[in-house]
Amino acid sequence: MRTLIVGIGALGGIIGGRLLAAGSPVFLATRDAESAGRLRASGLRVTGIGGDASGSATHVAALADIGETFELIVLATKAQDAIEAAPRLGELLARGGTLLPIQNGGVSQILAERLGEERVLGGLSNLGGTMTALGAYEQRNAGHILIGELTGGTSERATRVQGWLGRGVDVRITPNLRGAIWSKLLLNCSVTTLGAVSGGTMRGYIFTPEGRALFDRAYDEALSVALASGARPEKMIVDPMPPGWNGHSVPGPAQDAWLSAVLAGYGDIKPSMLQDFERGRATEIDFINGYVADLGKKLGVATAANAAIVDAVHAISRGRLAPGPARLGEILTSAGG
Ligand SMILES: NC(=O)c1ccc[n+]([C@@H]2O[C@H](COP(=O)([O-])OP(=O)(O)OC[C@H]3O[C@@H](n4cnc5c(N)ncnc54)[C@H](OP(=O)(O)O)[C@@H]3O)[C@@H](O)[C@H]2O)c1
Repeated sequence: MRTLIVGIGALGGIIGGRLLAAGSPVFLATRDAESAGRLRASGLRVTGIGGDASGSATHVAALADIGETFELIVLATKAQDAIEAAPRLGELLARGGTLLPIQNGGVSQILAERLGEERVLGGLSNLGGTMTALGAYEQRNAGHILIGELTGGTSERATRVQGWLGRGVDVRITPNLRGAIWSKLLLNCSVTTLGAVSGGTMRGYIFTPEGRALFDRAYDEALSVALASGARPEKMIVDPMPPGWNGHSVPGPAQDAWLSAVLAGYGDIKPSMLQDFERGRATEIDFINGYVADLGKKLGVATAANAAIVDAVHAISRGRLAPGPARLGEILTSAGG
């Protein structure tokens, strides 16, 4: 498949580097011509889990300078850049071509609404990695890219994309991609964002009364929006439906055991959003809790806690607040207790 990878950061670099090392030609698109020149000189080198791999970046250019069309575009930028690039990506897709976004949150769905569902295959990444320098990437886990039709079911194109990208990285197909996206989003909205806002991890805030109350509010709202949208969140490490859930979390031993499983799976991971705060980078909050709040508004589902979390994250990004445990109580208060 004639393939373009857009965004040669952590994930784009790992996918591109492993495909090139496997002898599968791919084109690479960077944000600007300067990065393209540097990548052309350095090539791509992947280390870490999955073994070392390297390839020459022969076909690399700034996104604006690419003059051909592609059967497959793997979109590996951050969420906000993905949405901004949408019109350009529409031009670069060949007739019948497929765009595969792999961002967390609402990006696949938003792009499908803008470009047409037939042009977008949903994706998400359970593959984790980091870029240590331009052209140098470290794979941090043995995860996979999960793909599937946003309308559900299986398709010939998903199988073709799996076969092609699978030459480089593990790619799996689910008939319930929307459900999988929501399962990850439920945890991103609660575990991850609240960890970042509190300046630590879930384990650091979940045993405080405000932390627990805000976790339940954020999770309950997001799950209510998911169900109202028609999605059926899929089981990941834990069941996305807390035991006895009736529109709200039901306190008790079963809920505590469920929360312990969430904590064991995700409670000690430093949120990437906290790294964004520390490095002064834009966060993806508008596509995580912000997506939940916006969709909730459209569907008539209350999302005051998620909306208040978005406001707090924007205030931290603008330097008006600092991350810290005190933020959680403030968010609860502004969300109505
Ligand atoms: N890394 C992970 O382990 C991981 C795991 C799961 C999900 N994700 C998600 O996957 C997405 C990508 O993450 P990442 O960690 O790979 O991000 P990243 O390291 O920041 O890489 C994004 C790359 O896209 C480039 N870019 C931005 N706008 C562009 C444009 N218009 N045209 C071409 N390139 C452009 C950026 O260039 P500049 O540096 O010049 O901006 C950067 O090199 C995010 O949504 C993230 O949440 C990541």
